[in-house]
Amino acid sequence: MPVKVLMVCLGNICRSPLAEGIMASLVHPEEVFVDSAGTAGYHVGNPPDPRSIAVARENQIDISHQRCREFQAADFEEFDYIFAMDLENLANIHALAPTQAHRKKARLLLEAGGMGTREVPDPYYGGASGFTHVYSLIEQACSRILSEILRTP
Ligand code: 4NP
Repeated sequence: MPVKVLMVCLGNICRSPLAEGIMASLVHPEEVFVDSAGTAGYHVGNPPDPRSIAVARENQIDISHQRCREFQAADFEEFDYIFAMDLENLANIHALAPTQAHRKKARLLLEAGGMGTREVPDPYYGGASGFTHVYSLIEQACSRILSEILRTP
């Protein structure tokens, strides 16, 4: 059975689709299953933001097939690790945790990656450089999470 990892942001169109694509690119699917979701349902069914698709493509990762879905309490049963992009996402996830054990599955992505209590900034209202910055932060965290928390690919 693969380790199951869920990446979560607000809209599930900018940051967490990148986190899903980056983490998936670093693992074998039979070892680590990766998915993503948003704490808000504004964009359910939509593909990732074109700016996220573009920065992923620049790095040879295709995320265009992904479709937005909303985080749900059942994800606490399904996933072993839940990584939130920012503190607001984390609070919204924690608010849905049925037990303390479930709550402990959810952590800040960058903190889990040993990068301090830092957030992946929301790039939605900015330009392309924000997406490049977000990509770089997520990539560093995913590499470190794989070597320190999950099995290396
Ligand atoms: P994300 O970015 O949480 O990284 O997917 C956002 C996407 C959409 C909105 C906000 C943030 N929005 O307000 O629609």
